[in-house]
Amino acid sequence: MMPKKYYLTTPVYYVNDVPHIGHAYTTIAADVLARYKRGQGYEVHFLTGTDEHGQKVWKAAEAHGKKPQDYVDMVCQRFKAAWQVLGITNDDFIRTTDPRHIECVQKIFSRLLKQGDIYKGEYQGWYCTPCESFWTEGELKEDVEGRKLCPDCGRATELLKEESYFFKLSKYQAKVLDHINQRPDFIKPASRRNEVIQFIKQGLRDLSITRTAFPWGVVVPEDPSHVVYVWFDALINYISAIGYPGDDKLFSKWWPADVHIMGKEIVRFHAVIWPAMLLALDLPLPKTVFGHGWWTVEGEKMSKTSGNVVDPVALSSQYGVDVVRYFILREVAFGADGDFSMTSFINRYNADLANDLGNLLSRTVTMIEKYFGSKVPEPMSKITEELTLAVEKVDQQMDQLALADALGTIWGLISGANNYIEKNAPWNLAKNKEEEKLAEVMVKLYETLLMVARLIAPFMPETSVRMLAQLNPQERSVKKGEPLFPRLQKPTN
Ligand code: MSP
Repeated sequence: MMPKKYYLTTPVYYVNDVPHIGHAYTTIAADVLARYKRGQGYEVHFLTGTDEHGQKVWKAAEAHGKKPQDYVDMVCQRFKAAWQVLGITNDDFIRTTDPRHIECVQKIFSRLLKQGDIYKGEYQGWYCTPCESFWTEGELKEDVEGRKLCPDCGRATELLKEESYFFKLSKYQAKVLDHINQRPDFIKPASRRNEVIQFIKQGLRDLSITRTAFPWGVVVPEDPSHVVYVWFDALINYISAIGYPGDDKLFSKWWPADVHIMGKEIVRFHAVIWPAMLLALDLPLPKTVFGHGWWTVEGEKMSKTSGNVVDPVALSSQYGVDVVRYFILREVAFGADGDFSMTSFINRYNADLANDLGNLLSRTVTMIEKYFGSKVPEPMSKITEELTLAVEKVDQQMDQLALADALGTIWGLISGANNYIEKNAPWNLAKNKEEEKLAEVMVKLYETLLMVARLIAPFMPETSVRMLAQLNPQERSVKKGEPLFPRLQKPTN
């Protein structure tokens, strides 16, 4: 039997700035899924990368006094280094400045131009550089000074009037809408799906897909004063990375993607423009586009000007990678918005990790050492029904991308086991020489911990390994180690 395949992606991140907790959130979530699917026997292809063209990145390079290529090389390294620290197991990393990607974008452009899906015209309208998106006058917000603001990010837009090539997005409106209507799983969660449907129903205009005002992008082969619009360029990464159009074998192995994961603000690009591009290319559409929520920090929007940007690398070196991975996936339902605060971070660390998980392991290992000379007692236990049900539930939740719920189920086992200790008071069983019952209690705790170590592996790979070192399942003989999560002081402010 051929192994089942699973292709998942994150967005390619802009290299105008270094990675922060928001980028880390998407990438860690994708990593957890990738690890989980590999554990289920899937052959996984996990793609992430960087979006290196466009006006925003070009301006950032200028502001740093660097040549664009030197600048993007530097920031791209920061992303790669961050993912390494965070234990990200991506199978490939695509940069939109890679020759493999540039060639693919040019081939697609030429093909669509030839087949009439791209035509030349003039763009007149508004542009938001931070969002790299086009707006009509009617869509803009206006401030008291009469400045035209982007409806997405609220920042000032600029008026553009330039020669441009257009992609016939309008032609695909009905087909894209049909696809969304027929496949409830295409856009998730449902709230995102409804937003997209409303958006399409307002009518799609053809999309300006080249710029002439600056030189930093994929050059249009037929008209070299134009560079390809950064979104048209970037979306193609999902297929250029797997060999489209030259390597049919690789491409047909992985495409269509099983899931594109991203923040909610860019679902529209992935659920409207990208499907239309794929339809124009006669390619199947991805199975699911998942838009997760946004993080604020201590109640505020994260921004460089507010100086509240959370650095996931610094946080990991202070508290441990697994703590960061656990916190951001447990704190909010995957799909909902959330708030990052140091107080909730420390509270969760102490409550869920130091108390619940850390103590359960250390108490259990200590008792098996003390009462049974480290050997897990006989008889060999059977996996209880409670454990079997929990595993099934975690599987269902993971398949639904309900990552926080899956962690909730695992922590249900952990607190259940802690309660079980209190209820059975093994120290009294030992005192009263109730050996058989004591053995039963220890075996049950041991099996629960083994299962927990297995279930948390995709979320907290290092912790899983550290637990297994103490549980030592090959020999079924425990070895006490350092505490998993030493308690932390509450933050002082
Ligand atoms: N380059 C585009 C994506 C092109 S994909 C073909 C882009 N890049 S980005 O650098 O701005 O990254 C946006 C992504 O980062 C979001 O979709 C989300 O995955 C993540 N996040 C950035 N800030 C975030 C929060 N504050 N909260 C949660 N995730 C956020 O858009």
